[in-house]
Amino acid sequence: ENLTTIVLETFGAVARITLNRPQQLNALNDVLMDELGATLTSLDADPAIAAIIITGSEKAFAAGADIKVMATLDFETAYTQNFITRNWDTIRTIRKPIIAAVAGFALGGGCELALACDTIVAADNAQFGQPEIKLGIIPGAGGTQRLTRAIGKAKAMDMILTGRMMGAAEAEQSGLVARVVPFAELNDTAMRMANTIASYGRLSALMAKEAVNVAEEQSLSDGLLFERRGFHSLFATSDQKEGMAAFIEKRKANFKA
Ligand code: HXC
Repeated sequence: ENLTTIVLETFGAVARITLNRPQQLNALNDVLMDELGATLTSLDADPAIAAIIITGSEKAFAAGADIKVMATLDFETAYTQNFITRNWDTIRTIRKPIIAAVAGFALGGGCELALACDTIVAADNAQFGQPEIKLGIIPGAGGTQRLTRAIGKAKAMDMILTGRMMGAAEAEQSGLVARVVPFAELNDTAMRMANTIASYGRLSALMAKEAVNVAEEQSLSDGLLFERRGFHSLFATSDQKEGMAAFIEKRKANFKA
């Protein structure tokens, strides 16, 4: 409730979480990750919420894990405390769609946080990067895995081995981000996307997210079977009856929450 490193706002069925450590370019520390994890968990359980946006400032989505904290970390502590992984696993358990609205720097853990969301909308000033190699480490929250799946091996190796940043245009062209808009339109674009998602049946959105995520984890046959079973099961819902009746009656569907 007393959030100190993030801001939570709700707009109807859409919740927006703004990372808020401006002095540190939203560097991710334990407090922030704990607040983020707890907030996402409670939004996921809140029947009034249908979609979630995570955003930062114009200058930075997040400039990575807090280097001042990591500087004194040793192997034993990192390993025994499972350093910084705890709420990354929480993010994976969230079933509602999460949009990352990224402006400015999304570096290291910041890029990984955006990648852990379901889709990314970027402002034209966005800069993505995995600069861990410059600090003598490697990405630790999915960078080598999710970035590779998102943009392919050659570009992922390029970014992770050289530590270079990727601008918004290249990120869109590479499939890292879904849409690029001028910074002034970032918030509206993310809100419109989230409201569109929220206007549909909740079951379809949850099921769609679950099925797309299976594509990253399982074989094609397993994924196709998962999809088909989900598809079949949605014919048991009132949303399917309403969605199809509305089409035939040439009116807007009125989905139940
Ligand atoms: C702690 C950070 C920080 C970070 C920026 N700051 N990034 N503090 N951890 N990751 C702080 C700076 O120390 C500075 O505070 C203030 O934010 C403003 O940053 P500047 O460097 O003055 O801004 P600028 O010159 O505009 O440069 C922006 C920047 C640069 C290019 C983003 O700050 C930068 O390179 N940051 C580090 C990026 C990085 O290496 N990230 C990966 C971390 S490793 P003061 O008080 O000094 O003014 C990682 C591992 C993930 O993320 C593991 C799993 C989660």
